[in-house]
Amino acid sequence: MRAVVLRELGDAGNLRVEEWPMPVPGPGEVVVRVRAASLNHRDVWIRRGQYAGIRLPAILGSDATGEVTAAGDADGKSWLGREVVIDPSLEWGPDLRAQGGDFHLLGMPTEGTYAEFVKVPAANVYAKPSHLTLEEAAALPLASVTAYRALVTRAAVQAGEIVVITGIGGGVALAALTIAVSLGATVYVTSGSETKIASAKQYGAAGGVTHRASGWPRTLLEMIGRRPDVIVDGAGGDTLAQALDLVKPGGRIVTYGATCGAVPSLEVRRIFWKQIDIRGSTMGTPEDFSRMLDLYATGVRPVVDSVFLLENVAQAHARIDSGDQFGKIVLRV
Ligand SMILES: NC(=O)c1ccc[n+]([C@@H]2O[C@H](COP(=O)([O-])OP(=O)(O)OC[C@H]3O[C@@H](n4cnc5c(N)ncnc54)[C@H](OP(=O)(O)O)[C@@H]3O)[C@@H](O)[C@H]2O)c1
Repeated sequence: MRAVVLRELGDAGNLRVEEWPMPVPGPGEVVVRVRAASLNHRDVWIRRGQYAGIRLPAILGSDATGEVTAAGDADGKSWLGREVVIDPSLEWGPDLRAQGGDFHLLGMPTEGTYAEFVKVPAANVYAKPSHLTLEEAAALPLASVTAYRALVTRAAVQAGEIVVITGIGGGVALAALTIAVSLGATVYVTSGSETKIASAKQYGAAGGVTHRASGWPRTLLEMIGRRPDVIVDGAGGDTLAQALDLVKPGGRIVTYGATCGAVPSLEVRRIFWKQIDIRGSTMGTPEDFSRMLDLYATGVRPVVDSVFLLENVAQAHARIDSGDQFGKIVLRV
């Protein structure tokens, strides 16, 4: 089969299509013929060498949709020929509150979805939501399960609450916007780009401010008219520090990423005086994934920024490197 193989860490040009052995399913496993795969920031961290436990050569990619072409046992055979999406969380473990020590993601060190075929546990395939295109279905798994767990399982967002989502151009952030709007929340966003704020309004955001301007929390507070109940943040750094100022007393902050690195100075007094609840969130359990798909089945659609052919994976990575994307970047296989 053809697969995108990363043999050397570095820039996007290091991702090259090669011939690679076909995966063979073992007991409890199926092979999926990949029709579309999508990029996540994790792939960029790995490509640049900024991720723990990198093993090369690697086939990156956590997200895919396609059809099941082979099964390792009778259980998997019921999936043969069916269109599926793949849950990229492997071996979550028994505790629903947090993943266990064996937890890992599809796509390094396991062979990922930037390929014509991928092998996964049969328990990780789910029927593709029928109202979604292949590209939309491929855009779902990692970003949407992360957003779903952050908003629903961890923050327990209620209809009528005010939710602020930082860095709305990101894949997880945009999934969070569409999910929060479908839950009945009023959503405000931040972005480095005014154009992205305008686009977010088309997907249901009530408004937004650029996080490039100093004092953005005050501007956002004036826009909303009251402090938000929940802030969902994947940026970390100064943005997370400022979220402590912005959130209402007794409010919740869910953190799922650190694109901007560590928080430079943590104002501990803010946390205890305002009785802020800071909740970490990573990926999701099989239950989170299944409930996320149920929510999309009500008609919710993910936002696709652009579609590239597998051969043009370097261009797709150059786009995510640029930060110009609004939504998910998809590879058509
Ligand atoms: N814990 C988990 O399970 C999990 C899962 C998925 C992702 N993550 C992490 O979450 C982060 C986002 O992932 P992704 O795949 O959604 O990334 P992505 O699609 O590449 O988006 C990254 C986004 O970061 C935003 N950003 C940049 N500077 C910012 C700032 N100063 N303040 C606020 N936002 C800023 C940008 O938003 P604008 O373009 O709007 O400026 C950009 O679109 C990454 O760090 C990733 O590793 C964690």
